[in-house]
Amino acid sequence: HDAVTHARQQHPIQVVAHRGASEDAPEHTLAAYRKAIEDGADALECDVRLTADGHLVCVHDRRVNRTSNGRGAVSALELADLAALDFGSWKAREPQETPGTPGSRSTRVEEPDWVVRPEDREHTSVLTLERLLELVADAGRRVELAIETKHPTRWAGQVEERLLLLLKRFGLDAPATAAESPVRIMSFSARSLHRVRAASPTLPTVYLMQFVSPRLRDGRLPAGVGIAGPSIRIVRNHPAYVERLQQVGHQVHVWTVNEPEDVDLCVELGIDAIITNRPRAVLRRLGR
Ligand code: G3P
Ligand code: CA
Repeated sequence: HDAVTHARQQHPIQVVAHRGASEDAPEHTLAAYRKAIEDGADALECDVRLTADGHLVCVHDRRVNRTSNGRGAVSALELADLAALDFGSWKAREPQETPGTPGSRSTRVEEPDWVVRPEDREHTSVLTLERLLELVADAGRRVELAIETKHPTRWAGQVEERLLLLLKRFGLDAPATAAESPVRIMSFSARSLHRVRAASPTLPTVYLMQFVSPRLRDGRLPAGVGIAGPSIRIVRNHPAYVERLQQVGHQVHVWTVNEPEDVDLCVELGIDAIITNRPRAVLRRLGR
C-alpha cells in the first residue's frame, strides 16, 4: 500500500481531451482540438483509421454515417471523398447536456458557444492525423497525444505501419524512454499494440478495457504494455482491480470521465490520466 500511496502523490493527474473538447465542438475536428488546447488540456485523444488511399484520419466509427453527411466505411473512401463531406453540422442538431450536473441529461438552455458556418472548415472538415500532429507541434507548450488504433481488419498491420512512419516524420516514433514520450498508442486490440511495440519498443502503449477479462484479473497486461486503460464503469465497480494494476506497476488511464463524482473517484484512487469530453470542467474540478 505504501508504494501505491507514494505513486499517487508523485504526479498530478493528467487531463486528456477525448476526441478533442468534444462536448463543445464536433468530435475529431480541428476546432475541437484547438478548444482543448485553449482549455488547458494536458493531452489530446484521437482515434485513427486508414482511408482507401492510405491516409490516417481521425474518425471514431467504422463508417462516416454518424459524424458526417456522407455514408460508407472510412476504409472504402479516399481522403478526397472525406474532404468533401461535412463532419460538423450534425453536432449542432444534437441535444446538449448541461456540463457538471451529475447524471443529468437535461437540455442546455443557452446556445453553444460555437456555430457551424459552412465556410468554417475547422468545425466541419475531416481531420488527418498529420494535421493534428502539426497542431500539437505548434501549440507553444507541451501537449501530449494519445492515439487509438481502431480494430484494423481490412488493413491488418498497415494502420500501425503508417502511424509509425508519420510519427517518424515528426521525430516522435522512437523516444529515448517511454516516460518522456509525448505520444502514446492505445488500443482495445492487443495485437495492434504488439505490432507497435515490435517496431518501436520505447513508445508507450495503453491496453484499453471495456471488461475485466478473467485472464487479466491478476493485474497483468498483454506482454510489454505498461498502461492500463479501463472504462470508468470498471473503475466504479472494481476499485480493487485498479489497485491491483497499480501494485503490479501499471499506470491507469480511465475513459470516459465526464461527471464530477467520477473525477473525485479517480483522484481518490490515484488514477494517472482522466480521458474526458469536458477538459475545462475536469480541470476546474481538479482545482487547476
Ligand atoms: O480513450 C479510450 C476511449 O476513447 C475508448 O473508447 O469508443 O471512445 O474510442 P471509444
Ligand atoms: Ca477512442
